[in-house]
Amino acid sequence: MSTSEKVHARPNTQTDQGGVVELAHPLIQHHLTRLRDERTGPHEFRNLIRRLAVLLAYEATQDLVVRDRQVKTPLTTADGHELKQRIGLVPILRAGLGMVDSALDLIPHAEVWHLGLYRDETTAQPVEYYSNLPESGAVDVALILDPMLATGGSAGAALATLCQWGVPQVKLLSVIASRDGIEEVLAHFPEVQIFVCAIDSELNSQKFIVPGLGDAGDRIFNTFASDD
Ligand code: PRP
Repeated sequence: MSTSEKVHARPNTQTDQGGVVELAHPLIQHHLTRLRDERTGPHEFRNLIRRLAVLLAYEATQDLVVRDRQVKTPLTTADGHELKQRIGLVPILRAGLGMVDSALDLIPHAEVWHLGLYRDETTAQPVEYYSNLPESGAVDVALILDPMLATGGSAGAALATLCQWGVPQVKLLSVIASRDGIEEVLAHFPEVQIFVCAIDSELNSQKFIVPGLGDAGDRIFNTFASDD
């Protein structure tokens, strides 16, 4: 096995805005529209989140580093590659859980490090309630998974935690982001790469993304009853 490394890159067909990639694929547009629809129930909503997460993860992993690996086929030997880096998936609880299986299907050996964050309903500030990161031994690349980036507070808190852990490269994967939230995140973490299916222009007075899709966590886990 050779030690040479390669970064596989293919032409970027998306809208690339600095550190932000907004995917512009017909499949994304189709599934995202179903996701936004208030008539879409939890079962289909979960499937759509998984489907969109596959496409986001595919785009976000274009620059993973590989090393050469030779294998024996039934006929001869073939030169190939294998992923070289330690990759961490970091779902933000709860809604990020809906994206984990998709990313794990693509990167089965990835480590999964959960972060528990909720947004205080009054202040819209993130509150951390779970983190079990070790003190050292950070992964090489972390993919933060969260369907929503509204004010950017939760993403910023997750990024701060991963920076403190010592992760050199962090990518943020969100289905929908607000323009303000992206700007907030990039103002504090200019190096982060952000991959989104859509950027919505507004946050309402409750800091919900408009038009958005409502509360992703509640729609994934069918927990509207608790709002009554
Ligand atoms: C939602 C969403 C993000 C966060 C986005 O989670 O999944 O984590 O809010 O908002 P922000 O960018 O303004 O921080 P929520 O707090 O509703 O928790 P949940 O996933 O448990 O429903």
